[in-house]
Amino acid sequence: MRCIDEIPAGELKGKRVLVRSDFNVPMGADGEVGDVFRLKRGWETIQYLSQRGARVIVASHIGRAPEESIEPVARALKKFGAVVYVPDITGPAANKAVSAMRGGDIVLLANLRSDPREKKNDESFARELASLADMYVGDAFAVAHREDASIVGVPKLLPSYAGLLMRDEVVELTEALHPPHPSLAIVGGAKFETKDPVIRAFLEVYDHVCVVGAIANDCLKGKGFPVGRSKISEHAPAREVCENPRLIIPTDVTAERSDKQAFVKKPEDVVPDDKIVDIGPDTVATLAPYISEAKFITWNGPTGIFEEGYTAYTSAIAELIATRVAKGGVHSVIGGGDTISALKASGIPEEKLGFFSTGGGAMLEFLLKGTLPGIQALS
Ligand code: 3PG
Repeated sequence: MRCIDEIPAGELKGKRVLVRSDFNVPMGADGEVGDVFRLKRGWETIQYLSQRGARVIVASHIGRAPEESIEPVARALKKFGAVVYVPDITGPAANKAVSAMRGGDIVLLANLRSDPREKKNDESFARELASLADMYVGDAFAVAHREDASIVGVPKLLPSYAGLLMRDEVVELTEALHPPHPSLAIVGGAKFETKDPVIRAFLEVYDHVCVVGAIANDCLKGKGFPVGRSKISEHAPAREVCENPRLIIPTDVTAERSDKQAFVKKPEDVVPDDKIVDIGPDTVATLAPYISEAKFITWNGPTGIFEEGYTAYTSAIAELIATRVAKGGVHSVIGGGDTISALKASGIPEEKLGFFSTGGGAMLEFLLKGTLPGIQALS
């Protein structure tokens, strides 16, 4: 995989460069971009190319519905630099806009998923996209696990490079595949079946694997604890996972009654009216020595239902990691859109926590397979 910073100086000048970014960002209640994390990270590549005189054609999807507009993303990007939104992908309006571009200009095309051919990895769509540009830059790490036309189809047709974001993700996450010891992985989220492969893989290479979030309920249940009304996955974890000595499960939980009052309690004290909404302080204290000794920490998934305001223990773990990072000698890799959203409540600046991956599902799949279709397509 060649990165854009390996392209000799001067060779980008005047070139039409199609950058596949992942600007699939959460929208606020006002219909504007609610979180600029992915935009900030993706902007580095766009700026790098634009500053070297390339004509930068940015393409991204947003959401899953074809009617979703990416125009709010263009408005948000304008805070970083001059971006023109073109409400078209490969039709006459897009072609006209690209022809009118001058070196350094940046345009953002319409939502790639507004064309059904994107998700089908349709060759004609890939060809139309490729015809807009002289070269392709894959920078959409967060969607590189999807075999979409703009991810795997276009790089077959154009000289292709990795963007700066993509390169950084691959370098950082490759380290997480073979962490130095002692190492700790923290995995949260819901639907145990989707996390099971990565938890098993982590149990092979990490010294300790702590489960938090809804999947911890599955492990608590698997170990015979009552879970009341808590969210439970369709597929229960296998006994060898629950009994693995490297697995750490919550030693206390925050449980919400049906009257919405929440209390911290021991797992064995959960009653039928309780819904587990977060871990508790004792679990944070259990994790503290592992965090302070770790040379490598990988974290994906908040500890609780952050959408309902249960962010206190996610923040507490972030504080411990920030303290550890400040001491030095640790590498930490944190990812997952929900983790990033939940961590916003902690107020701890990203740079104090180590490397933040833009990927959620992509990060987990990379940690399982060591590559992704969108990375292989660049090789
Ligand atoms: C993400 O936000 O995780 C990526 O953009 C992938 O989105 P998708 O799950 O809709 O393919």
